[in-house]
Amino acid sequence: MCGIIGYVGPRVARDVVVAGLKRMEYRGYDSAGVAVVSDGRIEVRKKAGKIANLEAALAQSPLPDSEIGIGHTRWATHGGPTDANAHPHVSQNGRVALIHNGIIENFAGLRAELEAEGVGFRSDTDTEVAAQLLGREVGRGLDLAEAMGAVCQRLEGAFTLVALDAEQPHRLVAARRNSPLVVGVGEGENFVASDVAAFIEFTRSAIELGQDEMVDVTPERITVTDFWGRPAASKPYEVTWDLSAAEKGGYDWFMRKEIFEQPTAVFETLLGRYTADGALKLDELHIPEAHLRGIDKIIIVACGSAYYAGLVAKYAIEHWTRIACEVEIASEFRYRDPIITGSTLVVTISQSGETADTLMAIRHARDQKARIVAICNTNGSTIPRESDAVIYTHAGPEIGVASTKGFETQVAACYLLGLYLAQVRGTMFGDEIARVMQELAETPKLIQRVLDNLSPLEDLAGRLVGRDSFLFLGRHVGYPVALEGALKLKEIAYLHAEGFPAGELKHGPIALVDSGVPVFVIVPPQGRDQLHDKVVSNIQEVRARGAFTVVLAEEGDDEVAPFADVLLRLPQVSTILQPLLAIVPLQYFACEVATRLGYDVDQPRNLAKSVTVE
Ligand code: F6R
Repeated sequence: MCGIIGYVGPRVARDVVVAGLKRMEYRGYDSAGVAVVSDGRIEVRKKAGKIANLEAALAQSPLPDSEIGIGHTRWATHGGPTDANAHPHVSQNGRVALIHNGIIENFAGLRAELEAEGVGFRSDTDTEVAAQLLGREVGRGLDLAEAMGAVCQRLEGAFTLVALDAEQPHRLVAARRNSPLVVGVGEGENFVASDVAAFIEFTRSAIELGQDEMVDVTPERITVTDFWGRPAASKPYEVTWDLSAAEKGGYDWFMRKEIFEQPTAVFETLLGRYTADGALKLDELHIPEAHLRGIDKIIIVACGSAYYAGLVAKYAIEHWTRIACEVEIASEFRYRDPIITGSTLVVTISQSGETADTLMAIRHARDQKARIVAICNTNGSTIPRESDAVIYTHAGPEIGVASTKGFETQVAACYLLGLYLAQVRGTMFGDEIARVMQELAETPKLIQRVLDNLSPLEDLAGRLVGRDSFLFLGRHVGYPVALEGALKLKEIAYLHAEGFPAGELKHGPIALVDSGVPVFVIVPPQGRDQLHDKVVSNIQEVRARGAFTVVLAEEGDDEVAPFADVLLRLPQVSTILQPLLAIVPLQYFACEVATRLGYDVDQPRNLAKSVTVE
């Protein structure tokens, strides 16, 4: 939520900053702005709307070349998406410009304090409070870093701040609490940003910053301290992907590209995590086996698609380990006094590793002495940093706002965790684990087969593009797939779509079924799953009421054909692993419908990729 970048070095800062903003536009696109220092003055251009509007403004009124710049792309919280509310914000005395990601919860009191001192505000944002406070402290003679530390000590909530000073054209200061900030280490130049994608073109060397830390950056020097100026240990790392991963590579949408990257993403996520004889090898799970054997409950905590991945995991983990597994929406979890003890294992799933609701939930769980395992796609992000162990999904950067390969690899990583727990606790024999693992290792090829046969969905999208309501049905692990399929359609095509457990339909939702209503049904494997025939009956029930049925059934399942208006085939796989295959056509269908409706698939309205506010 909100993308921020700062640059110091010999390049034209304005251009580096705008290029970085474009790579982070998925984080928010309500407005964008840039500030540079030239001849001892701060100059700003900012514009409501997408970065294209900022570029048009820059073309009309160019910013001077300079060796320092900061930029921001906004997802509005306090104050509407206007030019005035766009960042950067400049202090009244003209000394500092500042950008912010997060929410300053105590901004109202601070604003009143500043107004009483005669400060006039030019925006409705919480951010301007930080800019004015910083300007005041620097104006009083405090060093920029000391001033930033002093300001941060007064702020409550979530914030990453980056500031520059009109009088110091080669120095940036940035700080973070509860929101992401990463430093890009160049040669004779340095970067700060919300996301490595912003500077990946220039360097793959990065430093992650801890909670309540700040960084003082010049072209030659990077100094990390806490808000009180005490030196802090910084953790450098190399980013494992490159610029091409952050570009569309010939696809019209990042989302479409990411759908097609799923075989590789799942392969990479499984790689190195099992031995030739199919035993699990999760070296990164630094929780003693004795502790894992003593666990009496697992709680999976996540939001959105990651929550649906957690629902899939519940079926697998309970089946394989016989440990009771609850799945919780993170924003609900912490406020309902959940029962957590030292023998609870909390598994948190987050693509970005920065989702505020999830972060707050794990902090709550930690306070209750639970051990935390994170499943995460973003190296060095806050959630893994605050967890006892992390299983990284190796999906590469996910830039389309709607999660695809993120979800897919989260499911794969959950399977690894479930099998590992079964191995440690002895709830499955070694050969049983090996059989599942071998099948799991085959799924990248099967996902590829699904991808090779997506063209019928293009026709289907053409046929259904005028419909305004869609239902998705599944049972067992097919149920979370139905929920995820519906979410894709809601978030990028803005259509009413709901996922239901197919058996629940007759308890109410079947009243929604009317002539021509499209109903997508995920059918469990024929012959090998007790629910197959029940789902076939559910299809007949909706068909009898006029539904247009789109049936996802495995190859060779002949029973379903008579009840399907459109039949999509899935390669044969065990029920528990079927979500990895079944979600793919649903993702693609949503992408096709949204494209036909003329929507921006990668940047759907009102959404942002990384939800760093509660
Ligand atoms: C849906 C989607 C969101 C995220 C959710 C959690 O397509 O992307 O629902 O899944 O906001 O995000 P992470 O996984 O980053 O915690």
